[in-house]
Amino acid sequence: MARRRIIAGNWKMNMTPSQAVALCAELKDLVVNDAVDVVYCVPAIDIVPVVEAVKGTNVHVGAENFYIEDKGAYTGEISAPMLKDAGVEYVIIGHSERREYFKEDDAFLNKKVKKALEAGITPILCCGESLEQREMGVTMDWIRFQIKSDLVGVTADQVKTIVIAYEPIWAIGTGKTATSDQAQEVCKGIRDCIAEMYDDATAAAVRIQYGGSMNAGNAKELLAKEDIDGGLIGGASLKAEFGSVVNA
Ligand code: PGA
Repeated sequence: MARRRIIAGNWKMNMTPSQAVALCAELKDLVVNDAVDVVYCVPAIDIVPVVEAVKGTNVHVGAENFYIEDKGAYTGEISAPMLKDAGVEYVIIGHSERREYFKEDDAFLNKKVKKALEAGITPILCCGESLEQREMGVTMDWIRFQIKSDLVGVTADQVKTIVIAYEPIWAIGTGKTATSDQAQEVCKGIRDCIAEMYDDATAAAVRIQYGGSMNAGNAKELLAKEDIDGGLIGGASLKAEFGSVVNA
């Protein structure tokens, strides 16, 4: 079964609303590709202007975060139904920066995955090992733990719709990319884990991205791998180079 490719930018805490609109204009003609889902995951304050800026283009809008309750006394938070109403179609869940700096654990991330699905937003569920874990030889054990914990109670039909991003922590923002073989090995391991938890059809449907210093220079080789269906791109998503990744 052919899986549709998905290239998502993770803008992180960059781009003011006016910078965001300018970036959309700069990238508009560079990211055109009918064979690929193109997503900009943007800071909450940029969502409304970016949804407006990409109207009529092939670009979909994603969020970088939300809180697990629908509404109520949670000062400063934004809910999944709010994102949905604003035009958000994807949301990043479990990024290593949120796991580390905001202490989001797998039990909480499992709630986020279920809440996003309930709201009709596609989770981009991130997993990945530290350099220490890789050197200890526990990469796949750790990633299987993350995937299994984050998907507790999620049905096969739901899993078929989600996106999983494999992002080795040591490759994020460091300029150190996993080799295409290293990335393929883990992405295949994730697919095997999904097959064990659910079934082969679910494993064949779920889209798996690689993320971590992906750029115009290495995207083609990574995306040629059988189990790598796309990329989650940080630094290179903030410039014209993102167009080259989309068209790699
Ligand atoms: P990077 O970030 O491409 O800048 O390494 C990827 C990510 O954190 O999603």
